[in-house]
Amino acid sequence: MNHILSLTIALLVLFSLSGISQNKIVIHADQPGSKIDKAVYGHFAEHLGHCIYGGIFVGENSPIPNTKGFRLDVVGALKELKVPLVRWPGGCFADTYHWKDGIGPKADRPSIINVHWGGVTEDNSFGTHEFLDFCELIGADPYICLNVGSGSVQEAAQWIEYVTSANESPMTKLRKQNGREKPWNVKYWSAGNETWGCGGNMRPEYYADLYRQYATFMRAPGIYKIASGANVEDYKWTDVLMREASRNMNGISLHYYTVPRVWNKKGSATQFNDSLWFVTLQKTLKMEELVTKHSEIMDKYDPTKKVGLLVDEWGTWYDVEPGTNPGFLYQQNTLRDALVAGINLNIFNNHADRVKMSNIAQMINVLQSVILTRDKEMVLTPTYYVFKMYNVHQDATMLPVEIKCGKYTLGSQSVDAINASASTKEGVISITLCNLDPSNSQNVSFEIQGKKVSNVSGKIVTANKINAFNDFGKKNEVNMTDFSNAKIIKGQVEAVIPAKSVVLIQLR
Ligand code: AHR
Repeated sequence: MNHILSLTIALLVLFSLSGISQNKIVIHADQPGSKIDKAVYGHFAEHLGHCIYGGIFVGENSPIPNTKGFRLDVVGALKELKVPLVRWPGGCFADTYHWKDGIGPKADRPSIINVHWGGVTEDNSFGTHEFLDFCELIGADPYICLNVGSGSVQEAAQWIEYVTSANESPMTKLRKQNGREKPWNVKYWSAGNETWGCGGNMRPEYYADLYRQYATFMRAPGIYKIASGANVEDYKWTDVLMREASRNMNGISLHYYTVPRVWNKKGSATQFNDSLWFVTLQKTLKMEELVTKHSEIMDKYDPTKKVGLLVDEWGTWYDVEPGTNPGFLYQQNTLRDALVAGINLNIFNNHADRVKMSNIAQMINVLQSVILTRDKEMVLTPTYYVFKMYNVHQDATMLPVEIKCGKYTLGSQSVDAINASASTKEGVISITLCNLDPSNSQNVSFEIQGKKVSNVSGKIVTANKINAFNDFGKKNEVNMTDFSNAKIIKGQVEAVIPAKSVVLIQLR
Protein backbone atom coordinates (compact mmCIF):
# COMPACT_ATOMS: atom_id res chain seq x y z
CA MET A 1 0.00 0.00 0.00
CA ASN A 2 2.81 2.39 1.02
CA HIS A 3 4.48 1.56 -2.20
CA ILE A 4 1.46 2.63 -4.27
CA LEU A 5 1.08 5.85 -2.28
CA SER A 6 4.72 6.86 -2.82
CA LEU A 7 4.45 6.03 -6.51
CA THR A 8 1.36 8.23 -6.83
CA ILE A 9 3.07 11.10 -5.01
CA ALA A 10 6.15 10.71 -7.22
CA LEU A 11 3.99 10.81 -10.34
CA LEU A 12 2.14 13.90 -9.13
CA VAL A 13 5.44 15.69 -8.41
CA LEU A 14 6.74 14.64 -11.82
CA PHE A 15 3.60 15.90 -13.54
CA SER A 16 3.73 19.26 -11.85
CA LEU A 17 7.48 19.66 -12.52
CA SER A 18 7.08 18.74 -16.16
CA GLY A 19 4.23 21.22 -16.53
CA ILE A 20 1.67 18.53 -17.38
CA SER A 21 -1.67 20.24 -16.81
CA GLN A 22 -4.75 18.97 -15.12
CA ASN A 23 -7.00 20.53 -17.80
CA LYS A 24 -6.93 19.67 -21.45
CA ILE A 25 -8.55 21.53 -24.30
CA VAL A 26 -8.62 20.13 -27.81
CA ILE A 27 -9.24 22.64 -30.59
CA HIS A 28 -10.45 21.02 -33.79
CA ALA A 29 -8.92 23.33 -36.37
CA ASP A 30 -9.33 20.42 -38.79
CA GLN A 31 -13.15 20.51 -38.41
CA PRO A 32 -14.19 24.15 -38.95
CA GLY A 33 -17.83 24.84 -38.11
CA SER A 34 -20.22 27.63 -39.07
CA LYS A 35 -19.43 31.31 -39.36
CA ILE A 36 -19.98 33.16 -36.08
CA ASP A 37 -22.30 35.86 -37.35
CA LYS A 38 -21.03 39.24 -36.16
CA ALA A 39 -24.63 39.91 -35.07
CA VAL A 40 -23.96 37.55 -32.15
CA TYR A 41 -22.09 40.53 -30.66
CA GLY A 42 -25.17 42.76 -30.90
CA HIS A 43 -26.58 45.20 -28.36
CA PHE A 44 -30.01 46.31 -27.24
CA ALA A 45 -31.03 49.94 -26.66
CA GLU A 46 -34.51 50.61 -25.31
CA HIS A 47 -36.31 53.81 -24.34
CA LEU A 48 -35.75 52.92 -20.71
CA GLY A 49 -34.11 54.98 -17.99
CA HIS A 50 -30.95 56.62 -19.33
CA CYS A 51 -30.12 54.22 -22.10
CA ILE A 52 -31.18 56.53 -24.93
CA TYR A 53 -31.59 59.91 -23.22
CA GLY A 54 -28.40 60.81 -21.36
CA GLY A 55 -26.63 57.66 -22.51
CA ILE A 56 -26.64 57.86 -26.29
CA PHE A 57 -28.45 61.11 -26.96
CA VAL A 58 -28.17 64.42 -25.13
CA GLY A 59 -29.53 66.76 -27.80
CA GLU A 60 -27.64 69.27 -29.89
CA ASN A 61 -27.86 72.05 -27.29
CA SER A 62 -26.30 70.00 -24.51
CA PRO A 63 -23.05 71.19 -22.86
CA ILE A 64 -21.92 67.55 -23.19
CA PRO A 65 -19.76 67.30 -26.34
CA ASN A 66 -21.92 65.82 -29.09
CA THR A 67 -22.49 65.54 -32.77
CA LYS A 68 -26.12 66.07 -33.81
CA GLY A 69 -27.03 65.31 -30.20
CA PHE A 70 -25.10 62.01 -29.94
CA ARG A 71 -22.49 61.92 -27.16
CA LEU A 72 -19.00 61.97 -28.66
CA ASP A 73 -17.43 59.97 -25.84
CA VAL A 74 -20.03 57.19 -26.14
CA VAL A 75 -19.87 57.13 -29.95
CA GLY A 76 -16.06 56.82 -29.77
CA ALA A 77 -16.20 53.98 -27.23
CA LEU A 78 -18.84 52.08 -29.22
CA LYS A 79 -16.88 52.44 -32.46
CA GLU A 80 -13.85 51.02 -30.72
CA LEU A 81 -15.98 48.10 -29.57
CA LYS A 82 -16.97 47.35 -33.18
CA VAL A 83 -20.66 47.11 -32.27
CA PRO A 84 -22.17 45.20 -35.20
CA LEU A 85 -25.87 45.62 -34.46
CA VAL A 86 -28.31 47.55 -32.25
CA ARG A 87 -31.87 46.46 -31.42
CA TRP A 88 -34.39 49.30 -30.82
CA PRO A 89 -36.83 50.79 -29.60
CA GLY A 90 -37.58 47.98 -27.09
CA GLY A 91 -38.28 45.75 -25.29
CA CYS A 92 -41.63 46.31 -23.69
CA PHE A 93 -41.47 49.89 -24.94
CA ALA A 94 -41.72 48.68 -28.56
CA ASP A 95 -45.28 47.46 -28.14
CA THR A 96 -46.38 50.89 -26.93
CA TYR A 97 -44.44 52.83 -29.55
CA HIS A 98 -46.08 54.54 -32.50
CA TRP A 99 -43.29 55.44 -34.86
CA LYS A 100 -45.00 58.44 -36.43
CA ASP A 101 -44.72 60.18 -33.02
CA GLY A 102 -40.95 60.18 -33.52
CA ILE A 103 -40.53 61.77 -36.95
CA GLY A 104 -40.72 65.33 -38.29
CA PRO A 105 -39.85 68.63 -36.59
CA LYS A 106 -39.08 67.99 -32.93
CA ALA A 107 -41.36 70.76 -31.72
CA ASP A 108 -44.30 69.00 -33.35
CA ARG A 109 -43.60 65.56 -31.90
CA PRO A 110 -46.06 64.59 -29.17
CA SER A 111 -44.93 63.66 -25.69
CA ILE A 112 -46.15 60.33 -24.41
CA ILE A 113 -45.96 58.43 -21.13
CA ASN A 114 -43.43 55.62 -20.95
CA VAL A 115 -45.86 53.32 -19.17
CA HIS A 116 -43.51 50.41 -18.62
CA TRP A 117 -40.47 52.28 -17.41
CA GLY A 118 -41.15 54.67 -14.56
CA GLY A 119 -44.13 56.45 -16.15
CA VAL A 120 -41.81 59.23 -17.27
CA THR A 121 -42.42 61.61 -20.17
CA GLU A 122 -41.06 60.47 -23.50
CA ASP A 123 -40.73 63.51 -25.73
CA ASN A 124 -39.94 61.49 -28.86
CA SER A 125 -36.89 63.61 -29.66
CA PHE A 126 -35.08 60.37 -30.43
CA GLY A 127 -37.03 58.63 -33.19
CA THR A 128 -36.46 56.69 -36.38
CA HIS A 129 -34.10 59.19 -38.03
CA GLU A 130 -32.06 59.62 -34.86
CA PHE A 131 -31.76 55.87 -34.32
CA LEU A 132 -30.70 55.18 -37.88
CA ASP A 133 -28.27 58.12 -37.89
CA PHE A 134 -26.78 56.77 -34.66
CA CYS A 135 -26.31 53.33 -36.22
CA GLU A 136 -24.59 54.90 -39.23
CA LEU A 137 -22.36 56.90 -36.89
CA ILE A 138 -21.12 53.86 -34.98
CA GLY A 139 -21.11 51.55 -38.03
CA ALA A 140 -23.75 49.15 -36.69
CA ASP A 141 -26.65 47.42 -38.43
CA PRO A 142 -30.06 48.48 -37.11
CA TYR A 143 -32.63 45.98 -35.86
CA ILE A 144 -36.14 47.42 -35.40
CA CYS A 145 -38.87 45.86 -33.29
CA LEU A 146 -42.37 46.56 -34.64
CA ASN A 147 -45.37 47.28 -32.45
CA VAL A 148 -47.69 44.27 -32.46
CA GLY A 149 -49.17 44.62 -28.96
CA SER A 150 -50.87 47.99 -29.47
CA GLY A 151 -50.12 48.73 -33.11
CA SER A 152 -51.51 47.56 -36.41
CA VAL A 153 -50.33 45.68 -39.46
CA GLN A 154 -50.75 48.85 -41.49
CA GLU A 155 -48.64 50.89 -39.08
CA ALA A 156 -45.89 48.26 -39.24
CA ALA A 157 -45.98 47.99 -43.03
CA GLN A 158 -45.81 51.77 -43.38
CA TRP A 159 -42.82 51.98 -41.07
CA ILE A 160 -40.92 49.44 -43.15
CA GLU A 161 -41.85 51.30 -46.33
CA TYR A 162 -40.86 54.67 -44.84
CA VAL A 163 -37.44 53.36 -43.90
CA THR A 164 -36.51 51.02 -46.74
CA SER A 165 -38.32 51.93 -49.95
CA ALA A 166 -36.67 53.71 -52.86
CA ASN A 167 -40.00 54.04 -54.71
CA GLU A 168 -42.59 56.82 -54.81
CA SER A 169 -45.24 56.53 -52.09
CA PRO A 170 -46.86 58.68 -49.41
CA MET A 171 -44.46 57.16 -46.86
CA THR A 172 -41.31 57.78 -48.89
CA LYS A 173 -42.51 61.31 -49.65
CA LEU A 174 -42.87 61.88 -45.92
CA ARG A 175 -39.35 60.55 -45.31
CA LYS A 176 -37.93 62.90 -47.92
CA GLN A 177 -39.84 65.84 -46.41
CA ASN A 178 -38.20 64.91 -43.12
CA GLY A 179 -34.78 65.26 -44.66
CA ARG A 180 -33.80 61.77 -45.75
CA GLU A 181 -33.72 61.33 -49.50
CA LYS A 182 -32.30 57.82 -49.75
CA PRO A 183 -33.78 54.84 -47.94
CA TRP A 184 -31.84 53.21 -45.15
CA ASN A 185 -30.71 49.63 -45.40
CA VAL A 186 -32.51 47.96 -42.51
CA LYS A 187 -32.48 44.20 -42.77
CA TYR A 188 -33.64 43.05 -39.32
CA TRP A 189 -37.29 43.58 -38.27
CA SER A 190 -39.22 41.71 -35.61
CA ALA A 191 -42.97 41.42 -35.14
CA GLY A 192 -43.39 42.40 -31.50
CA ASN A 193 -41.46 41.72 -28.32
CA GLU A 194 -42.27 39.26 -25.54
CA THR A 195 -45.74 38.76 -27.00
CA TRP A 196 -46.25 36.15 -24.25
CA GLY A 197 -45.92 39.00 -21.70
CA CYS A 198 -45.65 42.80 -21.96
CA GLY A 199 -46.18 42.56 -25.73
CA GLY A 200 -49.77 41.35 -25.36
CA ASN A 201 -50.00 38.33 -23.04
CA MET A 202 -50.78 36.10 -26.00
CA ARG A 203 -50.93 32.34 -26.27
CA PRO A 204 -48.46 30.83 -28.77
CA GLU A 205 -51.25 29.60 -31.06
CA TYR A 206 -52.75 33.09 -31.24
CA TYR A 207 -49.41 34.82 -31.77
CA ALA A 208 -48.37 32.28 -34.42
CA ASP A 209 -51.35 33.34 -36.55
CA LEU A 210 -50.79 37.01 -35.81
CA TYR A 211 -47.12 36.63 -36.69
CA ARG A 212 -48.04 35.08 -40.05
CA GLN A 213 -50.30 38.03 -40.75
CA TYR A 214 -47.60 40.59 -39.88
CA ALA A 215 -44.94 38.64 -41.77
CA THR A 216 -47.10 38.79 -44.93
CA PHE A 217 -46.90 42.57 -44.91
CA MET A 218 -43.28 42.89 -43.77
CA ARG A 219 -41.91 43.63 -47.23
CA ALA A 220 -38.52 44.99 -48.19
CA PRO A 221 -35.63 43.72 -50.30
CA GLY A 222 -33.51 41.25 -48.29
CA ILE A 223 -35.64 41.64 -45.16
CA TYR A 224 -34.89 39.28 -42.23
CA LYS A 225 -38.17 38.61 -40.41
CA ILE A 226 -38.06 37.78 -36.72
CA ALA A 227 -40.77 36.21 -34.58
CA SER A 228 -41.05 37.07 -30.91
CA GLY A 229 -39.78 33.92 -29.22
CA ALA A 230 -39.80 32.09 -25.95
CA ASN A 231 -39.27 33.15 -22.39
CA VAL A 232 -36.50 30.98 -20.88
CA GLU A 233 -37.63 27.33 -21.00
CA ASP A 234 -41.03 27.82 -22.56
CA TYR A 235 -40.33 25.08 -25.11
CA LYS A 236 -43.97 24.88 -26.08
CA TRP A 237 -43.76 28.44 -27.40
CA THR A 238 -40.87 27.55 -29.73
CA ASP A 239 -42.59 24.35 -30.79
CA VAL A 240 -45.87 26.02 -31.73
CA LEU A 241 -44.20 28.95 -33.49
CA MET A 242 -41.88 26.70 -35.46
CA ARG A 243 -44.71 24.32 -36.33
CA GLU A 244 -47.09 27.04 -37.47
CA ALA A 245 -44.86 29.78 -38.84
CA SER A 246 -41.26 28.68 -39.46
CA ARG A 247 -41.78 29.01 -43.21
CA ASN A 248 -42.61 32.70 -42.72
CA MET A 249 -39.62 33.60 -40.58
CA ASN A 250 -35.84 33.99 -40.75
CA GLY A 251 -35.31 34.07 -37.02
CA ILE A 252 -37.03 33.48 -33.71
CA SER A 253 -35.93 35.06 -30.47
CA LEU A 254 -35.20 33.76 -26.98
CA HIS A 255 -34.95 35.81 -23.80
CA TYR A 256 -33.04 34.72 -20.73
CA TYR A 257 -31.68 36.91 -17.93
CA THR A 258 -29.28 35.84 -15.17
CA VAL A 259 -30.92 36.73 -11.85
CA PRO A 260 -28.83 35.63 -8.84
CA ARG A 261 -31.69 35.26 -6.36
CA VAL A 262 -35.41 35.62 -7.16
CA TRP A 263 -37.32 38.19 -9.23
CA ASN A 264 -38.63 40.21 -6.28
CA LYS A 265 -35.22 40.23 -4.56
CA LYS A 266 -32.64 39.78 -7.23
CA GLY A 267 -29.55 40.69 -5.24
CA SER A 268 -27.10 43.57 -5.32
CA ALA A 269 -24.87 44.22 -8.33
CA THR A 270 -21.82 44.89 -6.16
CA GLN A 271 -22.42 43.45 -2.67
CA PHE A 272 -22.17 39.69 -2.97
CA ASN A 273 -20.21 36.79 -1.56
CA ASP A 274 -18.61 33.65 -3.03
CA SER A 275 -21.87 31.80 -2.85
CA LEU A 276 -23.72 34.42 -4.94
CA TRP A 277 -20.79 34.50 -7.37
CA PHE A 278 -21.20 30.73 -7.78
CA VAL A 279 -24.97 30.85 -8.19
CA THR A 280 -24.78 33.68 -10.73
CA LEU A 281 -22.33 31.79 -12.91
CA GLN A 282 -24.22 28.52 -12.47
CA LYS A 283 -27.43 30.25 -13.59
CA THR A 284 -25.57 31.75 -16.54
CA LEU A 285 -24.49 28.27 -17.64
CA LYS A 286 -28.18 27.44 -18.01
CA MET A 287 -27.95 29.29 -21.34
CA GLU A 288 -26.21 26.18 -22.73
CA GLU A 289 -29.21 24.00 -21.86
CA LEU A 290 -31.69 26.57 -23.21
CA VAL A 291 -29.93 27.04 -26.52
CA THR A 292 -29.49 23.28 -26.93
CA LYS A 293 -33.11 22.42 -26.18
CA HIS A 294 -34.68 25.24 -28.21
CA SER A 295 -32.34 24.27 -31.08
CA GLU A 296 -33.47 20.64 -30.87
CA ILE A 297 -37.08 21.76 -31.27
CA MET A 298 -36.12 23.97 -34.19
CA ASP A 299 -34.27 21.03 -35.79
CA LYS A 300 -37.57 19.12 -35.88
CA TYR A 301 -39.18 21.69 -38.17
CA ASP A 302 -36.09 23.16 -39.79
CA PRO A 303 -33.43 20.46 -40.10
CA THR A 304 -31.35 22.50 -42.54
CA LYS A 305 -31.12 25.34 -40.02
CA LYS A 306 -32.53 28.12 -42.17
CA VAL A 307 -34.14 29.84 -39.16
CA GLY A 308 -31.82 31.51 -36.69
CA LEU A 309 -32.20 31.34 -32.93
CA LEU A 310 -31.67 34.93 -31.78
CA VAL A 311 -31.02 35.52 -28.10
CA ASP A 312 -32.07 39.13 -28.44
CA GLU A 313 -32.16 39.82 -24.68
CA TRP A 314 -29.65 38.41 -22.23
CA GLY A 315 -27.54 39.62 -19.31
CA THR A 316 -27.59 40.08 -15.57
CA TRP A 317 -30.56 41.62 -13.79
CA TYR A 318 -29.93 42.82 -10.22
CA ASP A 319 -31.70 45.15 -7.81
CA VAL A 320 -31.29 48.74 -8.99
CA GLU A 321 -28.53 50.81 -7.38
CA PRO A 322 -29.75 52.28 -4.08
CA GLY A 323 -31.38 55.67 -4.50
CA THR A 324 -32.06 55.29 -8.23
CA ASN A 325 -35.47 55.13 -9.94
CA PRO A 326 -36.67 51.49 -9.74
CA GLY A 327 -38.19 51.90 -13.20
CA PHE A 328 -34.82 52.78 -14.74
CA LEU A 329 -33.04 49.44 -14.09
CA TYR A 330 -29.69 51.12 -13.44
CA GLN A 331 -27.13 48.71 -12.03
CA GLN A 332 -23.36 48.57 -11.56
CA ASN A 333 -21.23 46.00 -13.31
CA THR A 334 -18.41 44.02 -11.71
CA LEU A 335 -15.90 41.34 -12.61
CA ARG A 336 -18.79 38.89 -12.08
CA ASP A 337 -20.56 40.48 -15.07
CA ALA A 338 -17.40 40.07 -17.13
CA LEU A 339 -17.56 36.33 -16.45
CA VAL A 340 -21.29 36.25 -17.25
CA ALA A 341 -20.62 37.95 -20.60
CA GLY A 342 -17.68 35.68 -21.40
CA ILE A 343 -19.66 32.51 -20.63
CA ASN A 344 -22.74 33.56 -22.62
CA LEU A 345 -20.69 34.62 -25.64
CA ASN A 346 -18.74 31.34 -25.56
CA ILE A 347 -22.03 29.43 -25.53
CA PHE A 348 -23.33 31.43 -28.51
CA ASN A 349 -20.06 30.89 -30.43
CA ASN A 350 -20.24 27.16 -29.80
CA HIS A 351 -23.78 27.11 -31.25
CA ALA A 352 -22.90 29.22 -34.30
CA ASP A 353 -24.81 26.82 -36.54
CA ARG A 354 -28.12 27.97 -35.00
CA VAL A 355 -27.49 31.10 -32.92
CA LYS A 356 -27.27 33.91 -35.48
CA MET A 357 -27.71 36.93 -33.24
CA SER A 358 -27.62 37.98 -29.61
CA ASN A 359 -28.24 41.33 -27.95
CA ILE A 360 -26.93 42.15 -24.51
CA ALA A 361 -29.44 44.03 -22.39
CA GLN A 362 -28.73 46.83 -22.48
CA MET A 363 -26.12 48.98 -24.15
CA ILE A 364 -25.89 51.95 -21.73
CA ASN A 365 -27.06 52.64 -18.15
CA VAL A 366 -29.59 49.78 -18.08
CA LEU A 367 -29.02 46.24 -16.71
CA GLN A 368 -25.72 44.69 -17.88
CA SER A 369 -24.35 47.71 -19.71
CA VAL A 370 -21.05 48.12 -21.46
CA ILE A 371 -21.09 51.84 -20.65
CA LEU A 372 -22.33 53.92 -17.72
CA THR A 373 -22.72 57.68 -17.95
CA ARG A 374 -23.30 60.41 -15.39
CA ASP A 375 -23.62 63.91 -16.82
CA LYS A 376 -20.36 64.53 -18.69
CA GLU A 377 -18.62 61.43 -17.39
CA MET A 378 -18.44 58.00 -18.94
CA VAL A 379 -17.30 54.69 -17.43
CA LEU A 380 -16.43 51.56 -19.39
CA THR A 381 -17.59 48.49 -17.47
CA PRO A 382 -15.87 45.09 -17.15
CA THR A 383 -18.46 43.82 -19.66
CA TYR A 384 -17.19 46.43 -22.15
CA TYR A 385 -13.73 44.91 -22.01
CA VAL A 386 -15.04 41.39 -22.56
CA PHE A 387 -16.88 42.55 -25.70
CA LYS A 388 -13.71 44.29 -26.83
CA MET A 389 -11.69 41.11 -26.24
CA TYR A 390 -14.24 38.85 -27.97
CA ASN A 391 -14.73 40.96 -31.09
CA VAL A 392 -12.04 38.79 -32.76
CA HIS A 393 -14.81 36.18 -33.13
CA GLN A 394 -17.04 38.43 -35.26
CA ASP A 395 -17.57 36.76 -38.64
CA ALA A 396 -14.81 34.23 -37.84
CA THR A 397 -15.24 30.49 -38.36
CA MET A 398 -16.17 28.59 -35.24
CA LEU A 399 -13.82 25.77 -34.24
CA PRO A 400 -15.20 22.92 -32.13
CA VAL A 401 -13.68 22.78 -28.65
CA GLU A 402 -13.43 19.72 -26.39
CA ILE A 403 -12.82 20.52 -22.74
CA LYS A 404 -11.65 18.11 -20.08
CA CYS A 405 -11.37 20.15 -16.94
CA GLY A 406 -11.61 20.14 -13.20
CA LYS A 407 -14.57 21.36 -11.21
CA TYR A 408 -15.19 24.56 -9.31
CA THR A 409 -17.03 23.35 -6.23
CA LEU A 410 -18.89 25.27 -3.61
CA GLY A 411 -20.45 23.21 -0.83
CA SER A 412 -22.27 20.34 -2.47
CA GLN A 413 -22.48 21.95 -5.92
CA SER A 414 -20.02 21.94 -8.79
CA VAL A 415 -19.64 23.43 -12.24
CA ASP A 416 -16.87 23.02 -14.80
CA ALA A 417 -14.09 25.41 -13.85
CA ILE A 418 -13.43 26.34 -17.46
CA ASN A 419 -15.75 27.52 -20.18
CA ALA A 420 -14.35 28.21 -23.66
CA SER A 421 -14.90 28.70 -27.37
CA ALA A 422 -12.64 29.11 -30.38
CA SER A 423 -12.67 30.48 -33.89
CA THR A 424 -10.34 31.15 -36.76
CA LYS A 425 -10.01 34.14 -39.05
CA GLU A 426 -7.23 35.14 -41.44
CA GLY A 427 -5.00 32.29 -40.25
CA VAL A 428 -5.26 33.21 -36.55
CA ILE A 429 -6.88 30.91 -34.00
CA SER A 430 -8.61 32.79 -31.17
CA ILE A 431 -9.57 30.93 -28.00
CA THR A 432 -11.61 32.69 -25.30
CA LEU A 433 -11.66 31.12 -21.86
CA CYS A 434 -13.38 31.86 -18.57
CA ASN A 435 -11.99 30.53 -15.30
CA LEU A 436 -15.06 30.50 -13.07
CA ASP A 437 -13.13 29.54 -9.94
CA PRO A 438 -12.60 32.68 -7.83
CA SER A 439 -9.65 31.21 -5.93
CA ASN A 440 -7.71 28.74 -8.08
CA SER A 441 -5.85 29.23 -11.32
CA GLN A 442 -6.14 26.54 -13.97
CA ASN A 443 -3.24 24.95 -15.82
CA VAL A 444 -4.41 24.18 -19.32
CA SER A 445 -2.67 22.23 -22.01
CA PHE A 446 -4.01 22.68 -25.53
CA GLU A 447 -3.99 20.27 -28.39
CA ILE A 448 -4.49 22.04 -31.71
CA GLN A 449 -5.61 19.49 -34.24
CA GLY A 450 -4.96 20.28 -37.87
CA LYS A 451 -2.67 23.28 -37.46
CA LYS A 452 0.91 23.89 -36.38
CA VAL A 453 1.31 27.03 -34.32
CA SER A 454 4.47 28.88 -33.45
CA ASN A 455 3.35 32.18 -31.97
CA VAL A 456 1.10 32.94 -29.01
CA SER A 457 -0.29 36.19 -27.63
CA GLY A 458 -3.19 37.06 -25.38
CA LYS A 459 -5.35 39.44 -23.38
CA ILE A 460 -6.95 39.16 -19.95
CA VAL A 461 -9.75 40.77 -17.95
CA THR A 462 -9.48 40.17 -14.22
CA ALA A 463 -9.15 41.99 -10.88
CA ASN A 464 -8.14 41.36 -7.28
CA LYS A 465 -11.68 41.09 -5.99
CA ILE A 466 -14.73 39.30 -7.37
CA ASN A 467 -16.78 42.45 -6.96
CA ALA A 468 -14.28 44.92 -8.41
CA PHE A 469 -15.94 47.51 -10.62
CA ASN A 470 -15.23 50.73 -12.45
CA ASP A 471 -16.95 53.82 -11.17
CA PHE A 472 -17.04 57.56 -11.73
CA GLY A 473 -13.71 58.80 -10.37
CA LYS A 474 -12.40 55.19 -10.19
CA LYS A 475 -12.47 54.12 -13.81
CA ASN A 476 -9.61 51.67 -14.01
CA GLU A 477 -10.27 48.94 -11.44
CA VAL A 478 -11.08 46.38 -14.12
CA ASN A 479 -9.46 46.66 -17.51
CA MET A 480 -8.12 44.55 -20.34
CA THR A 481 -4.38 43.95 -20.27
CA ASP A 482 -1.85 41.77 -22.10
CA PHE A 483 -1.75 38.13 -21.07
CA SER A 484 1.67 36.49 -20.97
CA ASN A 485 0.85 33.22 -19.16
CA ALA A 486 0.54 31.21 -22.36
CA LYS A 487 3.62 29.57 -23.89
CA ILE A 488 4.48 27.22 -26.71
CA ILE A 489 6.85 24.57 -25.33
CA LYS A 490 8.11 22.08 -27.91
CA GLY A 491 5.09 22.74 -30.13
CA GLN A 492 2.69 22.31 -27.19
CA VAL A 493 0.56 25.28 -26.05
CA GLU A 494 0.39 25.57 -22.25
CA ALA A 495 -1.31 28.28 -20.23
CA VAL A 496 -2.09 29.20 -16.66
CA ILE A 497 -5.49 30.85 -16.53
CA PRO A 498 -5.71 32.96 -13.36
CA ALA A 499 -8.62 32.61 -10.96
CA LYS A 500 -11.75 34.65 -11.84
CA SER A 501 -10.59 35.74 -15.24
CA VAL A 502 -11.61 35.99 -18.87
CA VAL A 503 -8.73 35.31 -21.25
CA LEU A 504 -8.09 35.48 -24.98
CA ILE A 505 -5.31 33.34 -26.42
CA GLN A 506 -4.38 33.88 -30.06
CA LEU A 507 -2.28 31.38 -31.96
CA ARG A 508 -0.51 31.89 -35.25
O1 AHR B 1 -34.62 44.72 -20.87
C1 AHR B 1 -35.65 45.08 -20.03
C2 AHR B 1 -36.96 44.40 -20.37
O2 AHR B 1 -36.83 43.03 -20.17
C3 AHR B 1 -37.42 44.50 -21.80
O3 AHR B 1 -38.10 45.68 -22.05
C4 AHR B 1 -38.33 43.33 -21.93
O4 AHR B 1 -38.39 42.83 -23.24
C5 AHR B 1 -37.77 42.32 -20.95
O5 AHR B 1 -38.73 41.79 -20.14
